[in-house]
Amino acid sequence: MRSVVPTAEVPWWQTAVVYQVYIRSFADGSEDGIGDIAGLRSRLPYLASLGVDAVWINPWYPSPMADAGYDVADYRDIEPAYGTLADATALIADAHAAGIRVLLDIVPNHTSDQHAWFRAALADEPGARQRYLFRPGRGPGGVEPPNNWQSVFGGPAWTRVADGSWYLHLFAPGQPDLNWDHPEVRAEFEDILAFWFDRGVDGFRIDVAHGLVKAAGLPDADESVGAAQSLVEDRAGHPAWDQEGVHEIYRGWRAVADRYTPERIFIAEAWVDGSERLARYLRPDELHTAFQFDFLRSPWRAKVLRTVIDDAIKGAASVGAPPTWVLSNHDVTRTVTRFARSQPGHLVGTDWERGRWADEDPDHELGRRRARAAALVQLALPGTAYVYQGEELALEEVEDLPDEVRQDPTWAQSGFTDVGRDGCRIPLPWTETDAPYGFSSRPGVVTWLPQPAHWGRHSVQAQERDPDSTLNLYRRALQLRPAVWRDAGPVQWLDVAADVAAFRRAGTQCWVNTGDRAVALPAGAAVLLASTAGVRDELPPDAAAWLKVE
Ligand code: GLC
Repeated sequence: MRSVVPTAEVPWWQTAVVYQVYIRSFADGSEDGIGDIAGLRSRLPYLASLGVDAVWINPWYPSPMADAGYDVADYRDIEPAYGTLADATALIADAHAAGIRVLLDIVPNHTSDQHAWFRAALADEPGARQRYLFRPGRGPGGVEPPNNWQSVFGGPAWTRVADGSWYLHLFAPGQPDLNWDHPEVRAEFEDILAFWFDRGVDGFRIDVAHGLVKAAGLPDADESVGAAQSLVEDRAGHPAWDQEGVHEIYRGWRAVADRYTPERIFIAEAWVDGSERLARYLRPDELHTAFQFDFLRSPWRAKVLRTVIDDAIKGAASVGAPPTWVLSNHDVTRTVTRFARSQPGHLVGTDWERGRWADEDPDHELGRRRARAAALVQLALPGTAYVYQGEELALEEVEDLPDEVRQDPTWAQSGFTDVGRDGCRIPLPWTETDAPYGFSSRPGVVTWLPQPAHWGRHSVQAQERDPDSTLNLYRRALQLRPAVWRDAGPVQWLDVAADVAAFRRAGTQCWVNTGDRAVALPAGAAVLLASTAGVRDELPPDAAAWLKVE
């Protein structure tokens, strides 16, 4: 087994493949139908054999689950359904022993309404409300919210409490926004980071990193910006997002991380307007990396992909950071399904987010071919790559969940118009048996979200048997990647055909064909790996290949 030893010049996080563990749906070791730390520990050998360098674990702290754990009640403990603090430290040790680093998810924009601070605020204890954003309402009797901001999940971003004042929540009412002008809030989070760094955690993914500081006075949003928001929407100019003040916070966090050896790192979730704005989070004294979401917003079109890739590389390079590629996560429609319908010619926005193409049936096999090809592009690029659990199984979005099982607060807050994100959070299938398909060792257990009847077909067990499965494609790609791509130098585009994106990095090329006709590959090229079987002289539509060209 590999072990965690700091390597030579290029730090691990600049080229890492990080696997995103959505803990509730990864593996259940306690037989209650909910994933947990015991389940994750038992599956570490799977992650080691996949060949990932690190895991990012979605929030595992005690939470009333108003937003699947993104409503944290206590940042220094573990959700009882997931285990204990002792389980967490054992997991960190096991992962390190298997050569896998551990990144946690820190949620600094808001707490749970069950957090001790918010309870004190509701009880109106002296000074307690100042840690949040309480304001009087507008209009006669203060019955109107203090401004026109909308929650990301739908409806007003304000909730009124018993004594008539309002508090801000950019997300669910159970997620009150913190006041980052308050020195106690700043000190508390630096201390929470140190708490986990002291326990060996290698870094943090920062939730809603662009939201912490709001424009002074909490002014109305310009109606033209659109008061309504969504996770993926372009939100330039909205007073809730990407304010200058956030950067000072991250300089403080960087100083905390820099106290530790080996290196501790950050990855920002910041939906900002373009790669130049994003680069500001990556200046040398701020965060190490940030998701470049345009890659996951790209339709299946070579031209758009190429533009997005160039832009991301340029943006990151402007501040000396590695680019960071992501095809999906727990907030967006699974890649297979995004690529299973007709493709627009531009970056996709909110209407694309969760497969709201009610009148267009998905062609999952087509989507699967494209998702496999996209993975080979992602893993050939310089920088770091994030793989969301189930991507390596080519799982599709489950779009036909019965309404009564939906858990995402988006569903209710949107007035039952937006089905939300549950469809990409279905418990993983490990075996071909009946539900829960090895997700839990207890047969017949009711999983927190139901799995579809065909889930076993996509299981790890089924894919292990099939040499051409997506799981085996990912394994081979991750095996080859260090030698083939890791130190291969910059991307140089080859002009081949309008529907083909092809680039060279040193002696290796990556080709992807998004058109509907096969294209000839260069004479004498040896195919190192292809997303579809039988690629030799031609690359078929909806496929990608890695080539060694003399
Ligand atoms: C981030 C998370 C998402 C969550 C939201 C509020 O966008 O990825 O799942 O709902 O923040 O914390």
